[in-house]
Amino acid sequence: MPMGTKKTRIGIYPGSFDPLTNGHLDIIIRASRLFDSLIVGVLRNDAKKTLFSMEERVALINKCTKDIPNVKVEMFEGLLVDFVKKKNADTIVRGLRAVSDYEYELQMAMMNKHISPEVETIFLMTDINNSFLSSSMVKDVAVHGGNIQGLVPDAVVDDIYKKVKND
Ligand code: PNS
Repeated sequence: MPMGTKKTRIGIYPGSFDPLTNGHLDIIIRASRLFDSLIVGVLRNDAKKTLFSMEERVALINKCTKDIPNVKVEMFEGLLVDFVKKKNADTIVRGLRAVSDYEYELQMAMMNKHISPEVETIFLMTDINNSFLSSSMVKDVAVHGGNIQGLVPDAVVDDIYKKVKND
């Protein structure tokens, strides 16, 4: 790269997002301040049953991030590190809630480092208020008619209730 040329920093925040929670949104907002551009990568995994289809998951995130100009939402399939390279990014962002997340996240970061040493993984600590939140618990609460307000962005509350009712 010529001297004086600033490299555009692109970060990738990958996940299943089935559905997006306030924990995810908090990480998106904070990570968007660390990069010129942040791509939320939504995993297409046909082997895993999800409540929301890939297109629906992408649409929900788009709805909640439309006011953050440097955030884009894209689906990916296959290896995450291949998606990172395809997008000219070099950093994966993951949120860490509790010690229980650490083992899985460490394993994943090390595997990604093993297959692509040039790709870094950085972790943002989840906001304490969201530390108990997970997509699967939100779904469980919604399925049983509990209150999910405050757990997910207001814009997606009704979509989730509608979906669990028709599932
Ligand atoms: O929200 P999740 O389900 O915890 O996200 C997991 C995700 C999508 C980041 C992870 O499953 C992934 O990267 N899958 C793509 C396949 C891959 O790259 N596997 C090798 C590294 S573990």
